Amino acid sequence: MPTIVVETIAALRAALAGADSVALVPTLGALHDGHLALARRAKELADVVVVSIFVNPLQFGPNEDYARYPRDLEGDAARLETVGVDYIFAPGVDDMYPNGRVETRITAGDVGTRFEGASRPGHFDGVLTVVAKLFNIVGPTVVMFGQKDAQQVFLVKRMVHDLDFPLRIEVMPTVREPDGLALSSRNRFLDVNERRAALALSRALEAAESSADRGIDAVLAASQSVISGDDLVQLDYLKVVDPKTFLPVDDGFQGKATVIIAARVGNTRLIDNENIFLAGAAK
Ligand code: PAJ
Repeated sequence: MPTIVVETIAALRAALAGADSVALVPTLGALHDGHLALARRAKELADVVVVSIFVNPLQFGPNEDYARYPRDLEGDAARLETVGVDYIFAPGVDDMYPNGRVETRITAGDVGTRFEGASRPGHFDGVLTVVAKLFNIVGPTVVMFGQKDAQQVFLVKRMVHDLDFPLRIEVMPTVREPDGLALSSRNRFLDVNERRAALALSRALEAAESSADRGIDAVLAASQSVISGDDLVQLDYLKVVDPKTFLPVDDGFQGKATVIIAARVGNTRLIDNENIFLAGAAK
């Protein structure tokens, strides 16, 4: 069956009526192999796969890249066809927000104001609001997210728990270029020098990982020194958080932790993260 593009909420609901199990892959489009990995796994988990493509104005700040965010529905459709995706849901802004900006929103709470949320105020409220709408429109059994956006995964899982959405979240590992750069729709904005400099993020995470047995201070020092070695890279944050709370870990913390990093490379903001296993600080 060819992939069918559906542009309205009513048409999608009609198409999905009676489906036994539905997997949803929410995206902003400009799809790369990271998105396709989610779609491929979705095929294994449900009878019907829906990929949503919607550049959600609610999650972009006034000075962010909403207008220049890459849009390529034709290219995306061709890619999703090769994976065997059943439906692309590509609503217009007027379909999703008929009266302009919605008055009713989901709030992401304290964690939603930290890290990505501190640099992008309101971002996670916008993400959770559109994700909740997509859950209600599609009625999925399972929804796919990428570990690449670790804070987003944490907040979506907590929303599903707090608001009792009857669905399961499936998280897929970050897909990377052979040299380590995490795939991102924004990588296309990097020029040759910036592309090389952007490797500082994944290298910093590698340095963090190999220092993990020496405790948190060693982890931060090792990753920090990779970042400060490159003039083109402006660090936004580099933190170690407890995956259970997504709050920074204390000094003596031991166990599984997530190193999160965000940096501006030229005009392009990139994020990445890696799970590490922290041993206690060497005395
Ligand atoms: P977008 O950035 O398009 O990402 C869609 C999904 O693909 C997210 O779950 C993201 O974590 C995952 N993804 C992106 N890059 C990846 C990579 N290199 N490897 C694995 N997965 C990757 O995240 C959003 O869109 C939006 O906030 C959205 C959830 C759609 C709400 O508007």
